[in-house]
Amino acid sequence: MSDLLITNIGELTTNACPEPAEGSAADRFGMLHDAAVFIEDGLISWVGPTAQAPAAGEVVDAAGRAVIPGFVDSHSHLVFGGDRAAEFEARMAGQKYAAGGIRSTVAATRTATDDQLRTRVRRFLDEMLAQGTTTVEIKSGYGLDVPTEERLVRLAAEVTSEVTFLGAHVVPAEYADRGDEYVDLVIGDMLDACAPHAKWIDVFCETGAFTVPQSRRVLEAGIARGLMPRVHASQLGPGEGVRLAVELGAASVDHGTYLTDDDVAALAASDTVLTLLPGVEFSTRQPYPDARRLIDAGVTVALACDTNPGSSFTSSMPFCIAVAVRDMGMTTAEAVWAATAGGAAALRRDDIGVVAPGKRADLVMLDAPTRVHLAYRPGVPLVKQVWKDGVTAWRKDQHGSAA
Ligand code: NIG
Ligand code: FE
Repeated sequence: MSDLLITNIGELTTNACPEPAEGSAADRFGMLHDAAVFIEDGLISWVGPTAQAPAAGEVVDAAGRAVIPGFVDSHSHLVFGGDRAAEFEARMAGQKYAAGGIRSTVAATRTATDDQLRTRVRRFLDEMLAQGTTTVEIKSGYGLDVPTEERLVRLAAEVTSEVTFLGAHVVPAEYADRGDEYVDLVIGDMLDACAPHAKWIDVFCETGAFTVPQSRRVLEAGIARGLMPRVHASQLGPGEGVRLAVELGAASVDHGTYLTDDDVAALAASDTVLTLLPGVEFSTRQPYPDARRLIDAGVTVALACDTNPGSSFTSSMPFCIAVAVRDMGMTTAEAVWAATAGGAAALRRDDIGVVAPGKRADLVMLDAPTRVHLAYRPGVPLVKQVWKDGVTAWRKDQHGSAA
């Protein structure tokens, strides 16, 4: 039996709604001050005022720093070969982003060995952990043939339980103008090979990728195999992908750069999370979606990095929070909620994203007194210590600490 007490937390974001005092509104961010968290065997067992904290075998004094739940990054494409720095540079010089760039990463991924891909993924995960991410979803989608897609989901499954089969990312060059035949492959041999390693089925439902009928075939085939649906939609223009996702009960529909009023109404009336990916708008120079409009309409919003070599090569949830606050109309509390509890909702997980008894002890201590600093000090490495299942998974060295 191991126990740990984190004490003297200046500001603790719990995301747990205590019963509101009479006459006051519920605070879904559950912010506590001068708080402590008691952890036993990897789970949180008590949360309360420092003055009432129980004795523990190990004590960490937060010295007034802020603590938040570990980030839940519910959308990434970490298994790929090569990069597309030249494409990014051309874009910054005025070229437009198009889904077709995915095919150049497919070529580099097919020729990479398992060990090369594995080393790369682990490096990304280390980089994410150092920025406070304790749960990561990983998609396939840069193989687009049966053996390579199988390799990608298998390699992803080595490092996370949140694995998504995205064989329907784009139509590969060898199937040009034969999209329906490619979908036959995706829902046939490819799904057979990949389903055993995956939990989720995803499709890029967009002009230049897959039509609504093709997307429906992919999602329904995945659901029939026991995979749960999630969808990429409305990234490059408005379309019907969001409503398809809602109709099929997807856990999340991601991007939502171009949403119609009907999309927003459908999302608000559903259990489907809308996952915003600020890194994409940042590095494709597309307009930022209006998170305020979504939240005010009652949509559940998550934030994720969408780490990939084309549209968003950041792995930093603090960066995404800063952009969401600066350019998408979110408050810092909403952005931190979206990056933690929102990500958990997008993965249909109720064991993470919240600091409360019975939840996993995935926690981040910031080198700052409040979560506001995540947006207020953009680009500054503010993560001081990260616990995963109650164990220190990352800590800033003594030279890096601002104390
Ligand atoms: O989520 N939208 C489709 N897929 C990725 C982009 C992939 C790429 O450009 O390589 C995304 O943005
Ligand atoms: Fe994506």
